[in-house]
Amino acid sequence: MTQHDTPATVVIFGASGDLTKRKLVPALFMLKREGHLPSRFSLVGVARREKTDEEFRGDMGEAVSSFSRAGSPDRAQLDEFLSRTFYVCGDFANVETYKWLKTKLDEVESAAGVKDPVRLYYLAIPPSEFPVVLEHLAAAGLSPRDQADRIRIVIEKPFGHDAESGRVLNAQVHRTFEEKQVYRIDHYLGKETVQNILVFRLANGIFEPLWNRRYIDHVQITVAETLGVEGRGGYFDEAGILRDIVQNHMLQLLCLVGMEPPIRFDAEQVRNEKVKVLMALRPFGAEDLANSIVRGQYVGGDIAGARVPAYRDEPSVDPHSNTDTYVAFRVFLDNWRWAGVPFYLRAGKRLAGRTTSIAIHFRRPPLTLFRQARAPEPNLLLLQIQPDEGIWLRVGSKRPGGRVEIDPVELQFRYSTTFDQGPPEAYERLLLDAMHGDSTLFAREDEVDYAWRVVTPMLEHWKANPGVPVTLYPAGSWGPLEGDRLIQADGRAWYNEIPGRD
Ligand code: BG6
Repeated sequence: MTQHDTPATVVIFGASGDLTKRKLVPALFMLKREGHLPSRFSLVGVARREKTDEEFRGDMGEAVSSFSRAGSPDRAQLDEFLSRTFYVCGDFANVETYKWLKTKLDEVESAAGVKDPVRLYYLAIPPSEFPVVLEHLAAAGLSPRDQADRIRIVIEKPFGHDAESGRVLNAQVHRTFEEKQVYRIDHYLGKETVQNILVFRLANGIFEPLWNRRYIDHVQITVAETLGVEGRGGYFDEAGILRDIVQNHMLQLLCLVGMEPPIRFDAEQVRNEKVKVLMALRPFGAEDLANSIVRGQYVGGDIAGARVPAYRDEPSVDPHSNTDTYVAFRVFLDNWRWAGVPFYLRAGKRLAGRTTSIAIHFRRPPLTLFRQARAPEPNLLLLQIQPDEGIWLRVGSKRPGGRVEIDPVELQFRYSTTFDQGPPEAYERLLLDAMHGDSTLFAREDEVDYAWRVVTPMLEHWKANPGVPVTLYPAGSWGPLEGDRLIQADGRAWYNEIPGRD
């Protein structure tokens, strides 16, 4: 990361929430510890709970100790970080809150000898509260139009719940902020391994020539979790996995695998190419909607030897819920590079293992020369996003001996053994980029809109046809059999191996 020393103030709305405690403040502290924060940096938390600056500092100190990847922090460093941390208590709907915030910002920034710093408003609050905060920020003069270059807003998903509501939300945001001020976080883009997809493709000369329909048979993208809804039953029951994971994280992965090389590595060019992938996605016809999309939901089962309840028995979930906790489908990109190559996507909670991966399955060699041997397995390139981050290439090799027997063997690169430093948390990179004004790793308005256009027909199909089955699968399995059949119908199978796991 480069060192920029432009003074910055981060204002977090929702400062008593989980995201602030678990992710944002620990990430800011790590940036401080590693010398990436500007020397004149301030953090102001805003929330409803009554608290003094001192109490907030105490809470944030605990958050850093419990959740930062560094483990127990150096006390002097932590104290220095906390001394630049402040709190404003107030209801987001109350105009006074913004007056107090303005006064606080003036005090904090002038005490630091800072005038017109970069200012990042981070909305770590439910989207239903966005409009009121946005309006008040504008009314209180906290986001003057003529200072758009230094004032930014960071928002978290969900960016709406379908194509239409996504547009409404964007319009609301744009009443106060120009698009260039808006940083829509998708934490997957902050992951090292996700950033490495483009580097791997485009900083090596040998893969790109193969990266197309001539050599690739199909691509599988999997986001499998062993976790369930983890106390977020209320939210998840409204969202489902299609909105929670596919619309954002998975489509981002698809874009990075499928996109053309940008003419420059900058925010506009990279995002232009990603949008083209979404535009090239073949829309689902009635037939696909009816037959090629599997919606599943877990029932009770065993995960790592422990019994876990059915989704419908999770707290705050409707006991008759039809919400998707698993989804699998096939898509095509109608462009020259990918014509005819199926991309199979699946995401699920409470599956048999935790893995996020992109498996690129290559075509078989054009001619079988080694007639005595079993047909060799086709080459497979596995981009293992998590866990045990790395890249695996499966090739065929002659097993030593008098006969020609071809065994699949692996060429592998593992982050854990290659680099002595673990990857930073996604939020560290993303917060820093937002402070530096680099939006390459953030979703642009049209990207979000096109991503919604991909999933909205599925959502509408389920809504309009309540009889569409939700196929049940036991927690701890690889999802419903229908999910397996979806890919088997094309003569293929899901790649379920997780590197590093016996
Ligand atoms: C979040 C989803 O965006 O991503 C969660 O809301 C999900 O439901 C999480 O568990 C997965 O993130 P990661 O980084 O653990 O793959």
